[in-house]
Amino acid sequence: MEALSPLSTTSVVKPWSSGFLLGFLAILAAVASHPNGEIHYHEFVVQAKSVTRLCSTHSIITVNGQFPGPTLAVRNGDTLVIRVLNRAPYNVTLHWHGVRQMRTPWADGPEYVTQCPIQPGGTYTYRFTIENQEGTLWWHAHSRWLRATVYGALVIFPKQGFAYPFAKPKLDVPIILGEWWKRDIISVMRQALFTGAAPNVSDAYTINGQPGDLYRCSNRGTFKVYVNSGDTVLLRVINAALNQQLFFTIANHQLTVVGADASYLKPFSTRVIMLGPGQTTDVLLNANQRAGRYYMAARAYATAQGAPFDNTTTTAILEYRNSRTGSFSRPILPQLPAFNDTATTTAFTSQLRSIPSNYKVPTQIDDSLFFTVGLGFVNCNPGPRCQGPNNTRFAASMNNVSFVLPNRTSLLQAYYQNIPGIYTLDFPPVPPVQFNYTGTVPRSQWQPVFGTKLYKLKFGANVQIVLQDTGIFSTEDHPIHLHGYHFFVVGQGFGNFNPQTDTGNFNLVDPPSRNTIDVPVGGWAVIRFVADNPGVWLFHCHIDSHLTWGLAMSFIVENGRGELQTVEPPPADLPRC
Ligand code: C2O
Repeated sequence: MEALSPLSTTSVVKPWSSGFLLGFLAILAAVASHPNGEIHYHEFVVQAKSVTRLCSTHSIITVNGQFPGPTLAVRNGDTLVIRVLNRAPYNVTLHWHGVRQMRTPWADGPEYVTQCPIQPGGTYTYRFTIENQEGTLWWHAHSRWLRATVYGALVIFPKQGFAYPFAKPKLDVPIILGEWWKRDIISVMRQALFTGAAPNVSDAYTINGQPGDLYRCSNRGTFKVYVNSGDTVLLRVINAALNQQLFFTIANHQLTVVGADASYLKPFSTRVIMLGPGQTTDVLLNANQRAGRYYMAARAYATAQGAPFDNTTTTAILEYRNSRTGSFSRPILPQLPAFNDTATTTAFTSQLRSIPSNYKVPTQIDDSLFFTVGLGFVNCNPGPRCQGPNNTRFAASMNNVSFVLPNRTSLLQAYYQNIPGIYTLDFPPVPPVQFNYTGTVPRSQWQPVFGTKLYKLKFGANVQIVLQDTGIFSTEDHPIHLHGYHFFVVGQGFGNFNPQTDTGNFNLVDPPSRNTIDVPVGGWAVIRFVADNPGVWLFHCHIDSHLTWGLAMSFIVENGRGELQTVEPPPADLPRC
């Protein structure tokens, strides 16, 4: 992984209709011109690869043998055509996290939601256009827990002739935070699913695939960013961790936040940022300190009481080229907040303000929804399959419904082709029972119901969702991600949401626009969006263990009028279940 210059990762070759024959295993990257932007052709071969970390070697699933996977670098308005060949022994799909996928839900990727998985030996081509998005997104597998190692950056530069709303940085570097297990991730997942208990925590965090100097056998690979004094660097920080929110900071340097989830923000300066899994934050760093070596570091922000977490710290190095002490001095280690430092998280997130854009915050609400989010338990008979707290199995839910994926076909196909019996449209718009969500919760609220319940929205509806954390297991912050959309975060707070007192404090002027909102621990967040993208869209916690336990639901957004408000027909190569 290297510093990016615009479009440095794409080379100009012929579209793969011809180029394909040339190199079957080569990374094919082509750019062709198109009236509204360029078309980038890529070939992503999903394949196993032996990788050594923390003194031990095991096989992981990768794209093109790269870990992290290839960086996609495009401009706003460009089209991506990515042909995926599955050479791995597992079903797989890829998701382009945060890409709006206007009218192209078939290219969104979550397995059994918008497509059946690509089976071993199969192929599928994802085609989609970036429309009015700039900044940093990423892509990842959306099939079981394969995204633990199958991920990469998706960098969107302004259109040709357009500039950033800040001075052009000298360097542009994706910083992808990840999580590493010494064991095979699918076996970690299977064990958790068997026992009903929480999964094993990771053995390391990583920056661009490398744990860094604080772990055994790791300093040879530590990721480094080289700067000259006075340089400005754009760090595109992505939290690709499977199950953990992370703090990120750099010793002795201030960070200027300029964007999040591919939308620009009013710049502000901070020492530390926090990202939930799925979120991205673009920060500018000015190399204005004494020439030397400084660690950038990330570690857990963990809010569930008494739940184990990986308490280690990953590092990369910021190195001044003109440093007198050279590459041998020990880098300065930054102070990171304590793992449960919610005050620092709140101080950071409360400063996010969008810069004016074409998007207006909806004020008249058509669908006013209230979703509880949190874990729950299923009672069962003591034994090897009931190793959750007090002989239970963990479950998770929104409005007490634990989401179950279909397996015969995808939700989008079932909707588009009117296949009955795959889902129901009775997802409750408000909790079926009201209770003191963040207080002591009665036992009767512990057990969710299982179902594939969807909620239907009319095209163009103005939607508000109150996301309310619950304390059924423990209060905990949840990074909730909406596919196919970004939304305004108009309010956040602690305790139970109170419409009488909290609504008046909403920010309807310059709320941040995001695709993933980290709902505060023991609190709530309110999001708004216009349902202007027809399709079936997954809405879920981006902590994979919570997603597997059912912390999800899906929206159907109906077609509007005319071609521009209608889902495109499915591609001919859409995989079959
Ligand atoms: Cu980045 Cu449904 O996920």
